[in-house]
Amino acid sequence: MKFASRIEKVPPYLFVGISRKIAEKRAQGIDVISFGIGDPDIPTPDNVVEKLRETALDSPNHRYPETDGLPEFRQAVADWYQRRFGISVHPDKETLPLIGAKEGIGHAALCFIEPGDIALVPDPGYPCIRWAHERLDADLDAIPDDVADKATVMWLNYPNNPTGAIADADYFAKVVEFAKAHDIAVMHDASYSEVAFDGYRPISFLETPGAIDVGVEFHSLSKSYNMTGWRLGMAVGNEDIISALMVIKSNLDSGVPNAIQYMGMEAMELSQNAIDERNAIYEHRRDRVVQTLRDIGLDAIPPKASLYVWTRIPEGFTSAEFTALLLDEADIVVTPGNGYGEYGEGYIRLSLTINDEDMEKGLARLSEWQIPSKD
Ligand SMILES: Cc1ncc(COP(=O)(O)O)c(C=O)c1O
Repeated sequence: MKFASRIEKVPPYLFVGISRKIAEKRAQGIDVISFGIGDPDIPTPDNVVEKLRETALDSPNHRYPETDGLPEFRQAVADWYQRRFGISVHPDKETLPLIGAKEGIGHAALCFIEPGDIALVPDPGYPCIRWAHERLDADLDAIPDDVADKATVMWLNYPNNPTGAIADADYFAKVVEFAKAHDIAVMHDASYSEVAFDGYRPISFLETPGAIDVGVEFHSLSKSYNMTGWRLGMAVGNEDIISALMVIKSNLDSGVPNAIQYMGMEAMELSQNAIDERNAIYEHRRDRVVQTLRDIGLDAIPPKASLYVWTRIPEGFTSAEFTALLLDEADIVVTPGNGYGEYGEGYIRLSLTINDEDMEKGLARLSEWQIPSKD
């Protein structure tokens, strides 16, 4: 059998290997605690699930959805943008529902990239972005002019997975200037825009003057409203890019089931109080994880947003070695930083989507664990 080169070139999806290792340990009766994948343990709000129950019984919702979604859903997205970021977008021309942000990110690659083209993507960065495109660098000053001139698209992701880094208005303004100077489309993955701490509220790339001329922003209801299992997100921004994505999507998928879009409309109406209460749970976990990592001698910095604590490991260990030691000696799963790219080497990532009881059990094991000496 001859597979396409992209199958052979790409390492297996990061979490597949980790899941296998956990399964092996659990089969031996070991109670492994996982700080691995970022998948909210907190359930989808009841009223959102209730909306599915209601709309699932409605037979028109049993048929193919439209790729561009329900007009009411597009309007709900535009209303959410207005409320959340103070930005007006055209519901029919500048928004598009996605079967999760991941689907949109993967398909957006097909809008811009031909064999041999250059895409600028973050390293370390979310594997889906890196997989769908060639890897390069997202530090604007580090990108040589000739590379920038050849690039067709640049990916950003703030708040960032895996690092938790955030972007400010000045940085986004610089991105718009750079994109215009080099004729590059900007794709901003804002999947963690609603998961933030210490009173911080992430901004939208589209708040930047001129951003809508060059870019699109991706949102995910997965992390915003604990809805990973329902698969819903949206792309918002430049009309031409939205149209191009619509061309790809209408040929490759049949859109988001209507009942799931109704759930999304209900979710986007949730009060900021409800979001703040949810974020307070993550914030408490963040503080516990950071403190424990510091107690064992790691230099963890508390992130202002995202679901992850990203921390450097001691010199002399690779990320894979350190991760394997934690699993073998403390029965704890963390994600090795090199899974997010070359520049993630020397780091690990801990996810905060673990219930408090398991987290405390895992942190107790971590506190008792001695980092082996490398000399
Ligand atoms: C940066 C980033 N973008 C997108 C996604 C995927 O979002 P969705 O569940 O909406 O496909 C994730 C999931 O972990 C992520 O970390």
